[in-house]
Amino acid sequence: MTDFTEANRRYFDQMATTYKDQFAQGQKMLSEQTAKRRSWISDRWTDTEAGKGQEIKMLEYACGPGVVSMTLAPFLTQVVGIDVSEKMAEEFNKNANTVNMASKMTGYKADLLSEPAPLEFAGSGFNNFDLITVSLALHHFEHPDTALQKLAKRLKIGGACFIIDLVPHAGHSGHGHGHGHGHGHGHEQMIQQEFGDAAHTVKAHGFSKDEMQKLFQDAGLSVNFEYELLSEPLVFTKAGKTVEKTVFIARAQLA
Ligand SMILES: C[S@@+](CC[C@H](N)C(=O)[O-])C[C@H]1O[C@@H](n2cnc3c(N)ncnc32)[C@H](O)[C@@H]1O
Repeated sequence: MTDFTEANRRYFDQMATTYKDQFAQGQKMLSEQTAKRRSWISDRWTDTEAGKGQEIKMLEYACGPGVVSMTLAPFLTQVVGIDVSEKMAEEFNKNANTVNMASKMTGYKADLLSEPAPLEFAGSGFNNFDLITVSLALHHFEHPDTALQKLAKRLKIGGACFIIDLVPHAGHSGHGHGHGHGHGHGHEQMIQQEFGDAAHTVKAHGFSKDEMQKLFQDAGLSVNFEYELLSEPLVFTKAGKTVEKTVFIARAQLA
């Protein structure tokens, strides 16, 4: 595990048990917005013509407490949640139980982005997914490009990947390799300003449509790319202040 991933593990481990309640408003919004776009994400679900009677399995990587998994589990046959934080994986399993989905949903602690990936996650149970999702975590990955390439290898051909993340606001290059830092600030300083005590766990302000398209394309996710802004902002309180962030959902399929 790299130092950066270890910093994420430590940060999210210590907030795992309170995360769902602390971000309750945002979790509700994510669940509603995901549910609303189910047929936009994929046409294969246990209750659709294209998916009826088939095994349909999803990986939620960097799953945290599993809000996207809990929303979609009723329409899937199996959901694997993986998070670098052991305590988040425990929360995922606890929540699966609470919503009576424990027979379908299992959370594990692992870093699938490390080199090499842990051997125990090489088997068929952790490959050939119909769906892979990453929600509000791509900006926490050290290398979002190689992360998507590694995750895409675990998809079936034709399988869909969907990403929920932040829209970088005007003047901020999403991932720090581009233009427009302005005011003499470096990328790190801008991240510090925007993310405060979580800055050391963050690599990007978010991802524009063009950036997402390139990330997907470079991972072989070149079929039916779409990027939409969610109609409601992500609202939460940080250091006593209310913060609102614009969020997107993007999807594409493995060629
Ligand atoms: C902001 S939370 C999002 C949690 C959840 N997906 C959601 O939408 O509520 C970010 C999550 O990413 C996880 N994470 C960060 N870096 C990771 C990595 N390299 N591999 C796996 N999980 C990671 C953290 O432990 C944390 O649970």
